[in-house]
Amino acid sequence: MTAKKRKSLLITFEGIDGCGKSTQAFLAYQFLHTNGYKVKILREPGSTVTAEKIRELLLNKKIKMTPITELLLYEAARTEIVANEIAPALTKGIIVLCDRFYDSTTAYQGYGRKLDLRMVNTLHKIATKGIVPDLTYVFDVDLKTASSRQKGKKDRLESQPRAFFNRVRLGFLEIARKERGRVKIIDARQPLDIVFNDVKKILLKKINR
Ligand SMILES: Nc1ncnc2c1ncn2[C@@H]1O[C@H](COP(=O)(O)OP(=O)(O)O)[C@@H](O)[C@H]1O
Ligand SMILES: [Mg+2]
Repeated sequence: MTAKKRKSLLITFEGIDGCGKSTQAFLAYQFLHTNGYKVKILREPGSTVTAEKIRELLLNKKIKMTPITELLLYEAARTEIVANEIAPALTKGIIVLCDRFYDSTTAYQGYGRKLDLRMVNTLHKIATKGIVPDLTYVFDVDLKTASSRQKGKKDRLESQPRAFFNRVRLGFLEIARKERGRVKIIDARQPLDIVFNDVKKILLKKINR
């Protein structure tokens, strides 16, 4: 058996619900795995026992909470995934793919809920211990297309009004504008395979560097 290729990279998949993040993260996982890389796929909030419990609270429509509580719960879940999964994997030469990370909190709780962005950023630094993704994809899609792709019951966050999601979408675009080196916008209205071609091009540049 050939040894697995080792490379420490944190790659995050961002965008509004229904943009295609989970689909693309899984395609990237399969691609890297097939090409011999040690790779791990995680999701936020969640991926540890404690963080999955916090996820249940956050997504439960019957549970009410203030925006600050919501922010702190996301950051608490993030603290767990970073300490128990992301940081250890990065020391072992594993490519970590994360379905959402702190940019989602900036977009949803910062731009969406209108919480102070400096406070939000300070909490990101505490939760991540300063870990910044090597590459972030923002899958950009109009709200109508995103909504038409969502099936089943909507969770607590997905049940927010349209204006909220509009702020979130623009928030992601603003994040990308501020950090052009790290954050790449992908036109997610395109068919799935075309979107993945765009993802792959950027990914190959990153892993072959
Ligand atoms: N580019 C695309 N074109 C059409 N349908 C898509 C595309 N990307 C994803 N989908 C479909 O849309 C739905 C939502 O995709 P998903 O990856 O779960 O989005 P997210 O994780 O961002 O909420 C899924 O049924 C998926 O198969
Ligand atoms: Mg998803």
